[in-house]
Amino acid sequence: MTRKDLLDIESLTREEIEHLLDQAAPFKELFTRSVKKVPALTGKSVLTLFYEPSTRTLSSFQVAAKRLSADITTFDVPHSSAVKGETVRDTIATLQAMRTDYIIVRNSMPGLPKVIAEATRASVINAGDGAHAHPTQALLDGFTFREVFPQTDGKKVLIVGDILHSRVARSTSNLMRKLGIEVSWLGPGSLVPKHGPRDIKRFTSYDEAMAWGPDSIYLLRVQMERQDTQYFPSLREYTKLYGVTQERFKHIADQGIYLMHPGPVNRGVELCDEVMEYDRSLIDQQVENGIAARMAVLYWLKPQSEDSSS
Ligand code: CP
Repeated sequence: MTRKDLLDIESLTREEIEHLLDQAAPFKELFTRSVKKVPALTGKSVLTLFYEPSTRTLSSFQVAAKRLSADITTFDVPHSSAVKGETVRDTIATLQAMRTDYIIVRNSMPGLPKVIAEATRASVINAGDGAHAHPTQALLDGFTFREVFPQTDGKKVLIVGDILHSRVARSTSNLMRKLGIEVSWLGPGSLVPKHGPRDIKRFTSYDEAMAWGPDSIYLLRVQMERQDTQYFPSLREYTKLYGVTQERFKHIADQGIYLMHPGPVNRGVELCDEVMEYDRSLIDQQVENGIAARMAVLYWLKPQSEDSSS
């Protein structure tokens, strides 16, 4: 089965997720070769449309598209007509006129990628829409986790931090649960939603969460930019209660627990410097795997702009 768009994880089946993760593996193998390119998307055009800042996701999509031999255009949002008051509808009409095959969009407005997807023949990939979804981050997380634990059923992942404002927490929790992984959340009571999936355990203390026996701990970035209210007293207090401090890191390393983080990392807040050197830190692996996972997504989606001979 193929799809036109990738907007969230909810709409994917376990089979589709596993198919994408299986597809990502041979793409990753390419990276060790002297020629890292395949002609899979020769003649196809990819447009990136990022209304919010990004380091990893944008550059990862750019590399992924180039390695598939697609032509990529980066829409220069800060200098585009969007800042001159052009409506999203008019921007969509412009994109449609360009006859691009793939549109990769990041925006603070939840649901905007869906609006664009419904209005264009291009395949739309959600690269993060507000606090709603970040499906390719979830796929790269699942791919990374599966490299360490090929049998995912019954494994345990503890996600720590600002769950409430995190599209990564939402998408990655959904993907992990679809792979049969037990998920739990730890964070300040004000940042861990009380409503939501019943199978997700909620913890408010690190000791309690560690006693649950996670195989991996997934640290979220503290997102000051999404907080219009102060949800915890201070960053120092946050680190003390929820950060991987030197003391906590020692315990984590003794237990052999893997550490993950979507980036960008706030060193000294979510984690101490020592984590970056930890042999069970998967953070760099996540970045590398992002390219392979995004290649798999681009290869899998089928734009309606394709003619019958393609
Ligand atoms: N993980 C992630 O989305 O990072 P960027 O904001 O740098 O793209």
